[in-house]
Amino acid sequence: MPHPKRKILVTSALPYANGAIHIGHLVEYIQTDIWVRYQRLCGHEVVYVCGDDAHGTPIMLRARKEGLSPEDFIGRMNSEHQRDFARFDIAFDSYYSTHSPENQTLCLRIYETLRAQGHIVTRDVEQFFDPTEQIFLPDRFIRGTCPNCKAPDQYGDSCEICGKHYQPIDLIKPRSAVSGATPIRKTSRHFFLRLEHFRRQLQDLLQSRFVDESVANKLREWFATELKDWDISRDAPFFGFAIPQETDKYFYNWLDAPIGYLASLAHYLKAPAEEAIEFWQNENVEIHHFIGKDIVYFHALFWPAMLLGAGLRPPTRLSVHGHLTVNAEKMSKSRGTFISAVQYARYLDPQWLRYYFATRLSAAPSDLDLSFEDFTARVNSELVGKLANLISRSAPMLNRLLNGETGVPVEDALPLLEQIRQAKPEIAQAFEDRNFAAATRQICSLADKANKFVEDNAPWVLVKTDAQAARGVLTAALEAGRILTIYLKAIVPQFARSVEQCLNIEPLEWRHIEDSMTAHKINAFAHLVSRVDDKAVQSLIQENMMPDPSTANPSSPIPSATAAAASASPAPSAAASGTFEPLAPICTIEQFAAVDLRVARVISAEDLPGSDKLLKLQLDAGEIGRRVVLAGIKKAVVPDQLPGRLVIFCANLAPRKMKLGTSEGMVLASGPGGAEVFLLSVDSRATPGQRVH
Ligand code: MSP
Ligand code: ZN
Repeated sequence: MPHPKRKILVTSALPYANGAIHIGHLVEYIQTDIWVRYQRLCGHEVVYVCGDDAHGTPIMLRARKEGLSPEDFIGRMNSEHQRDFARFDIAFDSYYSTHSPENQTLCLRIYETLRAQGHIVTRDVEQFFDPTEQIFLPDRFIRGTCPNCKAPDQYGDSCEICGKHYQPIDLIKPRSAVSGATPIRKTSRHFFLRLEHFRRQLQDLLQSRFVDESVANKLREWFATELKDWDISRDAPFFGFAIPQETDKYFYNWLDAPIGYLASLAHYLKAPAEEAIEFWQNENVEIHHFIGKDIVYFHALFWPAMLLGAGLRPPTRLSVHGHLTVNAEKMSKSRGTFISAVQYARYLDPQWLRYYFATRLSAAPSDLDLSFEDFTARVNSELVGKLANLISRSAPMLNRLLNGETGVPVEDALPLLEQIRQAKPEIAQAFEDRNFAAATRQICSLADKANKFVEDNAPWVLVKTDAQAARGVLTAALEAGRILTIYLKAIVPQFARSVEQCLNIEPLEWRHIEDSMTAHKINAFAHLVSRVDDKAVQSLIQENMMPDPSTANPSSPIPSATAAAASASPAPSAAASGTFEPLAPICTIEQFAAVDLRVARVISAEDLPGSDKLLKLQLDAGEIGRRVVLAGIKKAVVPDQLPGRLVIFCANLAPRKMKLGTSEGMVLASGPGGAEVFLLSVDSRATPGQRVH
């Protein structure tokens, strides 16, 4: 049945530009990206925009602390954020910034309309002011004793001990968290948006499909009392957009932040702000925001009020998710569970996190837990053990025994294939509803059935007596694997790409579910996805507990005795440095035995800008520690694809000082050099540190 093509504008919340992307953030970006990819697989037209939320006092102070201008600071953060998202396959169509000319234009336009329509009022406000820093202090930058329970050292807006909300002015013994000074009270004129003007419209919005019913019920409570005017201005010094016709007054960053969605859209369209508004106003476009539960107030009240007041459409839908806990507790630096995207990717495969979050995400805005034990168990048993297994057993078997050619599925397999295909509407609905947990559960149970089918029919035995039947069994297994890969593709796109490559098929889409691979030649099998190594998880947590993770150095010095022994023996083929002797002199068994070859996991691969040959690799060699190796493989590899890979390296080569640093070993590769260097890989079941015999 042909379905109408939807046009959907999708956003994720704009992360603040004052910190690194962490795995908590990733819940949201992975959730959104899966939903977007799913819609695209179905053939819908999606524009997915995001960007940095670059304004505000915390960002201004952070930049100052780093000795940078705010512009330089947010520029650096923006590229870091983009790099991190790319690493996790979050595929934005536009990643922009609230500190952009488009955003300023849009912001002014919306503000002018709100003002002209009488939705803005001004009045004096008394606030805490830091006399040392000469700034008004945001609530979070004031600390003091709770007026209710007298707990010391609480934030300016609420007490973490008794949970009471209050005004900063009520704190006992307040002080500035910026300078430590006792703040003074100071009055200044502020601008307010009159939310009450929008009461009816906002209530109507809640009656539409704007949010899930569970969220709507909570939101309705807000309307029990008067909606308070919302303060949209801040005093200088502030990093943001100046309010026109005022001196030293700026728009509060939460005013221009959601407008940043429109600015990012304009950036995507490569068009002036006006065209973004036209796009937004198109009734045929669904507008879908993904956010965390902490910012519902901004997206369900302030933002729609701003839009309505400016004569613009409110969003179609808000999808709200809960917060991430790690091992059942809030992410914490001291427990090593405050994990940034970069740190995670140094040790673990991003696909695993995408898969794991999918298994934990439903439509409900409830918190979700990343238990590393569960993470390891699930990825290994489900993604690797069930889903990849189906193809990684059958494809090599078909290649080895039957020329790599499929036939037609055996009769006995038809009910299984039928069942897998018939799950389509249910799985589709689960994706549409953001119920990825249900989708993965369903996909896994189908994979169980398919694996059992292969097991029961034992094609490796059958092939001896009835080759055609064996071919029919393997064909059915691969067909099942192909369809399940379509179901999984939005969650683990790289896995899907590997399957497509292995099966020698076009990029899979939802409409390919009905196709079949009859009399089709598959490719040589290539590895699909690795198992989680518990040691890598432990290393990640340990590194994270260290005070400064960025200075992580090789943890064990190279034992000098073995290093000396190695340098006395002829160097092994200088594979990685790209120089190859035509024939090496004979080496004795003793000399060979002196070469300590080990398995190591690449933790990171960094470009060395001063060299056109060398990459700087950080290796994790398990029990023998970490090593930095400068390898001449730059022309042959994409550095981003190296982390996580298992390689072989010589661990007792004498350290070599080079212009760009010291190399503490050598990775093995083959090939003539230059772009033709092939890093030797190791079976994914090997463990870093293991000796190579
Ligand atoms: N800058 C604002 C959003 C402006 S949107 C116009 C902001 N930034 S944030 O960096 O703090 O958070 C970005 C998104 O990540 C939010 O939707 C937030 O809920 C989500 N998360 C941040 N930490 C999170 C967890 N620990 N767990 C799940 N989501 C979390 O808010
Ligand atoms: Zn208290």
